Amino acid sequence: MVQGDEDSTQIPPPAWPREARWLHAGIAFGVTWQIWSSLWMTPQWEHADYGSLGGLLFNAHAWIGLMTALFILWQWLWIASDRRIRRQFFPWSGPWQPVLADLAALARGRLPGGGPRPGLAALVHGLGLLAITWMALTGSAIYFFLPQGGALPGRALETLVPLHKLGNLVVWIYWCGHVAMTLLHALRREPIWSIFRLW
Ligand code: HEM
Ligand code: HEM
Repeated sequence: MVQGDEDSTQIPPPAWPREARWLHAGIAFGVTWQIWSSLWMTPQWEHADYGSLGGLLFNAHAWIGLMTALFILWQWLWIASDRRIRRQFFPWSGPWQPVLADLAALARGRLPGGGPRPGLAALVHGLGLLAITWMALTGSAIYFFLPQGGALPGRALETLVPLHKLGNLVVWIYWCGHVAMTLLHALRREPIWSIFRLW
């Protein structure tokens, strides 16, 4: 254990609820697949193309994107149903004390512990959820405006695709920061991977 870290690693974090673990599995896999596959996919507007890797990846982007959107909808229903979780992700009306305490710990060179608790990490997770929700909403709308039977893309698609791409940078920044923080906690031998335990 790292010196001066008593408050973050000696007390074991509470366990993740089963709902949080399944939601995370769906969302983390879906969004990770979406952003990485977007690097190589080639959209076909006039016809579905299953004959090239770029075309296959674009079709997978549409279907996995819709599946991920359903997980994100489930996440919002869960947030809406539980005031405590809502305030953890979005402490707009307080309490800000856990976030400030985490910032103070970081300023003293201590890494706050993980787990399902309010604080800086939960606030960042909430902001990440907003960014991926934007991608899911605009992506799902794109799906319904994809031209059929050889038609050219219409005005709706010309508006929706740039709106969808607006979220690209934010989601990449979130992904890199989130994975980097996970690896940092893992290097310190904290039980950070428990969110991936589904049963
Ligand atoms: C962009 C894709 C991802 C999104 C949107 C995402 C989102 C989230 C959210 C919202 C939480 C908090 C869960 C809750 O409070 O119910 C969380 C926790 C977590 N995520 Fe992800 N995740 C993503 C990808 C990943 C990946 C690829 C990894 C693995 C490297 C990962 C590792 C973790 C870990 C270890 C936690 C628990 C953190 C802790 O104990 O404080 N996530 N993630
Ligand atoms: C959570 C769901 C989704 C995520 C995270 C996501 C993510 C992304 C990302 C990161 C890009 C690359 C943007 C860029 O290069 O600037 C992209 C592009 C795109 N996505 Fe999605 N997407 C999702 C759902 C969907 C769905 C359901 C569709 C429906 C077909 C879709 C259609 C597109 C299209 C048409 C592009 C533009 C491709 C291009 O012009 O090169 N996305 N998406």
